[in-house]
Amino acid sequence: MKALLGWLDDRVGVQKLMHEALYERVPGGARWRYVWGSTLVFTFTLQVITGFMLWSAYSPSTRTAWESVFYIQNEMFLGAIIRGLHHYSAQAMVVLMAIHLMQVVIDGAYKAPREINFWLGMVLMMIVLGLSLTGYLLPWDQTGYYATQVTTNIMSATPVVGAEVQTLAQGGRDYGHLTLTRFFAMHAGMLPAMLVGFLALHIYVFRRHGLTVHDPKHAPETTFWPDQVLKDAVACLAVLATVLMLAVFRPAELSAPADPAVKFDAARPEWYFLFLFRFLRFHAVEALGLTFGAIIVPGIIMGIIAVMPLTERVLGRFGHMLNKAFMWAMAAGVVALTVLAFYEDANDKGHQAALAEAHRDAKRAAELAAGPDKIPVEGAVSLLRRDPFTQGPRLFAQHCSSCHRFNGHDGRGTLVTDALKPGQTGDPAITPPTAADLGNFGSREWMTAIVVDYSNHFRWLKNAGWYAEAQKKTAAGESVDFIDPDSSEMANWTADNQESLKAAENADNVKALVEFLAAEAGHQQSEFDAALIQKGRALAVDGTWAGALAGTSCASCHETIGSDFPATPDDSSASGYPTMAKYGSAAWLKDFIRHPDAARHYGAKNRMPAYSPEQLSDSDLDLLVRWMTKDYTPTAVDDYPSQLAAFSAAPGGPAVPDAAAAPAAVEQPSEKTDPPADEKSADAEAAK
Ligand code: HEC
Ligand code: HEC
Repeated sequence: MKALLGWLDDRVGVQKLMHEALYERVPGGARWRYVWGSTLVFTFTLQVITGFMLWSAYSPSTRTAWESVFYIQNEMFLGAIIRGLHHYSAQAMVVLMAIHLMQVVIDGAYKAPREINFWLGMVLMMIVLGLSLTGYLLPWDQTGYYATQVTTNIMSATPVVGAEVQTLAQGGRDYGHLTLTRFFAMHAGMLPAMLVGFLALHIYVFRRHGLTVHDPKHAPETTFWPDQVLKDAVACLAVLATVLMLAVFRPAELSAPADPAVKFDAARPEWYFLFLFRFLRFHAVEALGLTFGAIIVPGIIMGIIAVMPLTERVLGRFGHMLNKAFMWAMAAGVVALTVLAFYEDANDKGHQAALAEAHRDAKRAAELAAGPDKIPVEGAVSLLRRDPFTQGPRLFAQHCSSCHRFNGHDGRGTLVTDALKPGQTGDPAITPPTAADLGNFGSREWMTAIVVDYSNHFRWLKNAGWYAEAQKKTAAGESVDFIDPDSSEMANWTADNQESLKAAENADNVKALVEFLAAEAGHQQSEFDAALIQKGRALAVDGTWAGALAGTSCASCHETIGSDFPATPDDSSASGYPTMAKYGSAAWLKDFIRHPDAARHYGAKNRMPAYSPEQLSDSDLDLLVRWMTKDYTPTAVDDYPSQLAAFSAAPGGPAVPDAAAAPAAVEQPSEKTDPPADEKSADAEAAK
């Protein structure tokens, strides 16, 4: 071993090199305040190692970037940890860099003869920020895509050469595939190479001048090895432990695949750029323009920092005090703006809703990509575009929520509210709907409400303008066709038979009828009881009720109840009653949305707009209806929470039907088969 070392030393001079590296003098003793530089070199090394690992699986193109990061995150061995380490140590580097800069200014390490090294440090800082900026885009997910678009737009605000700078960064006039490849080249090639070069210079110059000793009388002089090395090692391990913990317990997020067609409101830059983002939103700054806020002000601040060595040189001790004061003021400003930005976002309902939806989309995209169908060849972007669970709520909010609600909200979880009048403050009032809440459309609850609670279930219609007008006209003796939840043939039928329907003798019958109707709608992801369906069908078609209801069938008005919904529906045999053929099913629903005014539906009574393919394309109609009938890959992602409580609790808000009014007989069947005979008789006993 010794011989080998001697051989090597003769040729390369390792011993001298090692000696120089390790026995550097540390006057005033080893101190914790000197560790920041080492932790930065350490995190950078970690970045390079994890970066190469990520690179070996990453594929930079708009059709493969998200897909490959998904693979890294979810399938590659230790991929999530490696990505997490890379993600969090990048953030750690920015924080450590800020601390290092503070320490350098406070200790006066920028003073002559170390000015050049101070400037080298500033260059390194810019490179590191460039690395984070370019890295944020690489997963090609919604967050990175939209946040980076903001950045490239800011570049265009550069005075004189703005457009050119933007084109250069974007790789053309448009923000897209070439932006990604260009950012990747910068992120994995140019910037790291520059960083290595400048870092080597930085360390070389640092070694030339040695440490700037904060307090030489602190402790007796020692050497770098072992005292300072030990402190540096402990600090680096602490950094490693922190980022590892974060990587394990808070995996780096991958939001939904970037979709240029979807406006993404939740986009925010990485948290350490939030202060700048918030600064740009001050009215005064906005008024002065993007160039002022995003280019001139940061430029002046960097300029002030860059001339610190000169300030000190000219003004002496006072200059140094000035520099320190400036750094503290900057730090306080950055912290205050960051806190302000977080605080405002946390209290911004719109942003919170957008954020919640972004998380929903992220989870759903990951779920579909990992599901049986995997990622389609057109790329991950079509995962959500084709998913009824994702698109249904959006289509509902866009097309239907002006009249209908969905569990009290607009389909996407937001309450529909009146616009605030000028000068009005506080929460806006909840807008009453003018048509039924479709949150449970086609379900057992919906069918129950139709059969036993019709007028209440459709009472929202009375909020519509046409309702008041139609009532006025009928009062004046004119005849008008409209649906009156208080008095129409259907309302009267349920009202007249209220007592029989709620009587104990018909409890099982109502249950059976509801089961039959729900099974006719046949929404996915629920199971139906065959025996009950058969019993329900007889009730609907033949009127096999008990007591006063005996012989009254739904079919006496709704002739088509129990039959299939025709492939090409026509109105030649319409009886003037809405068709009940597979009422609530996908086929029925599609036909209804296209032609609610057809005689087979509401005919002249109709008040709902008919949606032509120009207004709602066939594919959108399909997505909407599949969502309403739950025909999509089952999901573990939380749905938008019901807003029915907030909806009814709002002051002056619309009331929700009294749950106590619904009869007990309509509970969902808990078992798939009829209860055994003795249980039935026990029930009958209890009823008595
Ligand atoms: C302008 C208000 C309005 C809009 C917008 C609207 N509807 Fe309606 N909708 C109504 C009214 C009123 C009714 C009651 C029946 C009628 O007038 O046809 C109704 C009835 C329905 C029904 C039948 C409920 C039943 O069983 O009687 C469904 C289903 C429905 N709408 C779905 C939709 C969907 C889906 C959209 C969006 C694509 C939509 N509606 C948009 C007003 C509207
Ligand atoms: C006396 C005739 C009559 C009887 C009996 C009747 N209905 Fe109706 N039903 C109507 C009319 C008329 C409408 C149209 C809405 C209106 O004018 O209020 C309607 C509407 C409906 C609707 C909403 C239709 C749609 O397209 O949105 C459903 C569901 C319904 N009835 C189910 C039933 C069921 C189930 C039965 C049997 C228990 C039944 N009806 C018995 C006359 C009747």
